[in-house]
Amino acid sequence: MTAVTTNDLLGQDGSKRTVMIYSRYERFWHWSQAALILILAFTGFAVHGLIPLPYRTAAQIHSYAAIALIALWAFTTFWHFTTGQWRQYLPKLASLPAILKFYAWGILAGAPHPYTKTLKRKQNALQSLAYLWFMVIIGPALWSSGIVYLTYPLWAKIAAGTIALPVVAFVHLAAAYLITIFVIIHIYMTTTGKTPLHYVRTMITGYDTIPLSKAEAAYLAEDEPGRLK
Ligand code: HEM
Repeated sequence: MTAVTTNDLLGQDGSKRTVMIYSRYERFWHWSQAALILILAFTGFAVHGLIPLPYRTAAQIHSYAAIALIALWAFTTFWHFTTGQWRQYLPKLASLPAILKFYAWGILAGAPHPYTKTLKRKQNALQSLAYLWFMVIIGPALWSSGIVYLTYPLWAKIAAGTIALPVVAFVHLAAAYLITIFVIIHIYMTTTGKTPLHYVRTMITGYDTIPLSKAEAAYLAEDEPGRLK
């Protein structure tokens, strides 16, 4: 009988394993951010008069949810930098044309996805670009204009007779429409995995089946065995 070596247990370099790719905190911030953005969109568009909800109630819920979201974003930014996860968002543009081609027509013809998720790189180039745009442009436009809006009673007198308030309202509303478009496209994209619910299930359980290098498999088996199924 031949002895079973560690290498046999780890499989070939690049062989697929079911691994926890989204930690508990990552899933927590993703879903709480999603819930808060939905509440903010609903109450914000009610304040704007597009959804029938009493103004005072809508404005109050909007303010509390906004403060919660800003706190979540601040903490999550800290988490991204302390864990090094911010690197996941640096777009690797070389693979972008292939990904765009896939979403433009390959997906309709049943072509395989040109990108394979890895432990180091959980997002494809298009996702990284979209999330970067979300974090660098839409998010800051929302929270900065939102905070200025929130503190309006403090500067109302100075701004009286100027276009300051309409400008703040315009920036906030424009960013609100952009984030709504982002959310709609994001939800559509989540349905384009192996099955329509594959990506959603991954973000709920944290586990996905991805190729691991021998070094990654050995590291996980030794240091974080709970992440391997
Ligand atoms: C991130 C932090 C945010 C802060 C601090 C914030 C704050 C505010 C404030 C103070 C108002 C004015 C409410 C009033 O008239 O009493 C407002 C309005 C509004 N907010 Fe936000 N908000 C934030 C995020 C969002 C998000 C994520 C959305 C998503 C769609 C959103 C959509 C809106 C809309 C549509 C309005 C109405 C704008 C108008 O008609 O002028 N807000 N927000």
